[in-house]
Amino acid sequence: MRIALFSDVHGNVTALQAVLRELRERGPFDAVVCAGDMVLMGPSPEEVVDLLRAEGVKMVRGNCDDMVSGLLPIETEAGSDPVRLERFRVHVKWTRERLGEERLDFLRSLPVTRTFDPAPGQSLLVCHASPSFTNQPLPRPDLLRTEGAKYYGDTEARVIAVGHWHQPSLTLLGERIVLNVSSVSIPMDGRPIACFTIAEWRDGIWSFEQYRVDYDIAPEIHRIRERNMPLPPWPKLEE
Ligand SMILES: [Fe+2]
Repeated sequence: MRIALFSDVHGNVTALQAVLRELRERGPFDAVVCAGDMVLMGPSPEEVVDLLRAEGVKMVRGNCDDMVSGLLPIETEAGSDPVRLERFRVHVKWTRERLGEERLDFLRSLPVTRTFDPAPGQSLLVCHASPSFTNQPLPRPDLLRTEGAKYYGDTEARVIAVGHWHQPSLTLLGERIVLNVSSVSIPMDGRPIACFTIAEWRDGIWSFEQYRVDYDIAPEIHRIRERNMPLPPWPKLEE
């Protein structure tokens, strides 16, 4: 079984196109899966949702999708800082207007987890942050080894594939593997190079390969201006 995994597209359709092109070269796959946060903070949310649907990518809901669709209160994510809260509100409103009701309904209809079972006791579970909730607080990636069991200990899955942190990583928690498939749009090293992961079950062993794909960010910057996209609430991106 071969599964292509990526996450956190955040409305960047040019990065998504680059990843899908690369996956076509490296296929076939039993499934192509996006671990949530398809929209918010990027200029092309409707193009991203439409392309993922057209390509048959299996999606789960992320915290940003839930904020945009109204399933998660903005205050939960933005905290008490009034400036940050207002920026989130403006961004969510802009993204909702771009998406329209039909796509918002679609985002609300998505599951929180998806599971793939190549062999008994070897399932791979995909979720955005944790299997129980899209935005449950998680230990920092460097603390996963010591604190991860309390977030992932309840699941039967052998492999838990997540996004949310925008950093590729692989952590062993006893017999379990927590795999961060990383972000298509905003890898946290600040370089506009998209990430994706290929998970393969073969000869009784799981193996994982993580890749980065270069792309031209110019069309997205053009769309930010053309569509009057508000400033993202993440200070890092304003620099
Ligand atoms: Fe994200």
